[in-house]
Amino acid sequence: MQKIIDETTVQVGDKIFRRYIKKSDIDARITEIATEIDRDLAGENPLFVIILNGAFIFAADLYRAITIPSEITTTRLKSYSGTETTGAVKTIMPLQESVVDRTVVIIEDIVDSGLTIQKIIHQIKDLGAKDVRTAILLFKPDSCQIENPPIDYCAFKIPSKFIVGYGLDYDEAGRSFPDIYALADED
Ligand code: IMP
Ligand code: MG
Repeated sequence: MQKIIDETTVQVGDKIFRRYIKKSDIDARITEIATEIDRDLAGENPLFVIILNGAFIFAADLYRAITIPSEITTTRLKSYSGTETTGAVKTIMPLQESVVDRTVVIIEDIVDSGLTIQKIIHQIKDLGAKDVRTAILLFKPDSCQIENPPIDYCAFKIPSKFIVGYGLDYDEAGRSFPDIYALADED
């Protein structure tokens, strides 16, 4: 269940969320990140890997802002239930493409504990990629449980707030809001 309450407030399930990052600010950061990726990976024909489901909207905008020759594919992992990380990361849909000797850029919505991004980087390196980079919409440094989180391109560093919108969900609802919202009672 999701509902727009007013210009800056939405309800998702049983919780109230307030607007936290506007779509225009997301767009501006995506333009900057795309410029960095174009510059860093020109001539590499990178393979972008979208981590479904949460990253699909960020990936659609980021990928269209990148101009160098490249390819894109998807994989699906799951670690969250409700607003809590479960600690265990399950692979629901494995990667189908070969990554042998390729430069891979993982596109992920959010790095919270860091366990999901760590697991996928290990998997892709084990499959033979020559270089694995990450493009992350949101990074919560205070929640991160791993040392030196492997983040190459990051749109926003945020406090440890639970987020919905722009692809991110609360129990599968709230993904379609264009802006990013944070849980209201975590101010
Ligand atoms: P991590 O493994 O704890 O870093 O969690 C990463 C995954 O949990 C992300 O791919 C998201 O799908 C989900 N997640 C983490 N924080 C949030 C949040 O604030 N809102 C919605 N999903 C989240
Ligand atoms: Mg995700």
